[in-house]
Amino acid sequence: MPIRSATAIAHPNIALIKYWGNLDDEWTIPSANSLSMTLGELFTKIHLIADEQLECDLLMIDGALAPPAAQARVSQFLDYVRVYSGKALFCRIESSSNFPRGSGIASSAAAFAALALASAKVFGLPTDPQELSRLARLGSGSACRSIYGGFVEWIGGQDHQSSYAIPIAPPQHWALVDCVCVISTAHKSVSSREGHRLAKTSPLQPCRVQSAPQRLEICRRAILERDFEQLAQVVELDSNLMHSVMMTSQPPLFYWQAETFVVMEEVRRWRSEGEAVCYTIDAGPNVHVLTLAECAQKIQDRLSHLSGVQEVIVAPVGGPAVFVEDEKPA
Ligand code: PMV
Repeated sequence: MPIRSATAIAHPNIALIKYWGNLDDEWTIPSANSLSMTLGELFTKIHLIADEQLECDLLMIDGALAPPAAQARVSQFLDYVRVYSGKALFCRIESSSNFPRGSGIASSAAAFAALALASAKVFGLPTDPQELSRLARLGSGSACRSIYGGFVEWIGGQDHQSSYAIPIAPPQHWALVDCVCVISTAHKSVSSREGHRLAKTSPLQPCRVQSAPQRLEICRRAILERDFEQLAQVVELDSNLMHSVMMTSQPPLFYWQAETFVVMEEVRRWRSEGEAVCYTIDAGPNVHVLTLAECAQKIQDRLSHLSGVQEVIVAPVGGPAVFVEDEKPA
């Protein structure tokens, strides 16, 4: 009997070398390679049920019907799956996460990585990691990195076949920790999808893209050699460059708030005093502060005392996206 339902979980990831801007927006072929760390302990779980009675897909988030934009995005992803598998089945998708939405932790990466696993199983598509990574990319670019645990590179490629992520070091390679400083949980006014389209309007984007491979190599080496100081320099530079592109797009995107800058300044000061800390910021005001596991408690305490920091969410390096047993009905 064909499998009609599947459950999978995936972790979010934080980009150390950022993805911002596409060569091809429709197929999410990025302008440059990127590199991330998968975030353990935080996860999104997707339970997918193909149902012949349904006339359209139905997305539930944390038990409630999802807003129309989220429904449309998931349906668009499942359209690829239907075309690719030749099976015209609609699905009920139940999504739940153990981290707050709007916390500055990209929920779309974990959600689409888990959805790629669950839908590949239900629709009979290949479930090898490379194929899953390509599929996840169609939902959200950064999701292709969440298929793997540890430290992951997205090879940008030129087309669907050549654009997928690969692992560069396993989770246990280096005990880094991400302390996410939540400054605002307000929904971002410009989505990253829209931001990628605007990237090409910044005069700084060609320079950022052209110099990205060099930063990625420095970052890769810093990870492989567990060299925190090298990592800190290149991670902050890359984040600052992405935000420079955002701020000089037309229209400009300013994701930082005053409190964002306060955290950045403190982190830089602590590092100058000898602490192993650095920051990186995605498309929002919240600051990801990276440190070593042995310093995490101290850094978390310090961050939580800074004015404007609502909460600090701590995540170690995490594992790959996995299938889990379907829950038996009670
Ligand atoms: O995967 P998207 O379309 O949500 O874009 C992610 C963009 C950043 O988080 C800002 C950078 C990245 O590489 O994750």
